[in-house]
Amino acid sequence: MTTTSQERVATVVAALMDAIRATIVDQRVTYDEYNAAKQYAIDLGEAGEWPLFADVFFEATVEQVEAATSDASDGAIEGPYFIPGATQLEKPYVMPMREDEPGETLLFSGTVASADGTPLAGAQIDMWHSDHYGTYSDIPYPDDRELPPSGNLRGRFTVDENGHFEVRTIIPVPYEIPKTGPTGAMLAAAGWHAYRPAHLHAIVTAPGHKSLTCQLYLSEDPYLDSDVAGAVKPGLVLTLEKHSDPGDLPARNLDGPYFSASHAFRLAKS
Ligand SMILES: [Fe+2]
Repeated sequence: MTTTSQERVATVVAALMDAIRATIVDQRVTYDEYNAAKQYAIDLGEAGEWPLFADVFFEATVEQVEAATSDASDGAIEGPYFIPGATQLEKPYVMPMREDEPGETLLFSGTVASADGTPLAGAQIDMWHSDHYGTYSDIPYPDDRELPPSGNLRGRFTVDENGHFEVRTIIPVPYEIPKTGPTGAMLAAAGWHAYRPAHLHAIVTAPGHKSLTCQLYLSEDPYLDSDVAGAVKPGLVLTLEKHSDPGDLPARNLDGPYFSASHAFRLAKS
């Protein structure tokens, strides 16, 4: 707040207060509801869930506002499960995974270019996503689920001289945000589900360019239109293509059908 001017604080806070007062009037909010809202705010704080609540309900909108003035390709919220320092992969790129990692094989490929289309040789992609059960490695979940090994499905890789990359991984699944605390209680009280559509996370970086934080969703996902975090953009939905030609598999070092999808990342100059 120290760098925010008094005028800016007054403008934004007044707009927020006006929106709350207008809702109270429009919805004829009762004293019982007002007191329940105050208690809910206390509960969120005591449970340490203000960051979760804010990130679920408001971060995607902040990201959209910031992205509106950028000529980069679509970005998305980072989410709470990024861990810096993932394994640097060697070609051919395969995300770190268990020998018997459950889930269908995905070959994710694409390009990284500057906003004007110039390929960015040597750009770096830091990718992470959930496993076939919707669980991220190295995350302390409040329930007693089985955790994947440390570093599972987290990796960094470099694009080639043409700005191209291909990485093999598995297809993630939709997962629920933590719902045992007040944030989940509110979702339940409103009759809303807690799911995020399946997604790959990526942070793309290149010298002389602003980094791009992104989530890539999968066509046909049942939660694309009702993401609890409201972070889906049409430009971030990958079209999955299934490949089951037996002649194609040995060259890919695969013994069963796989899916492919691609995406073109564009970074804004810094
Ligand atoms: Fe995620």
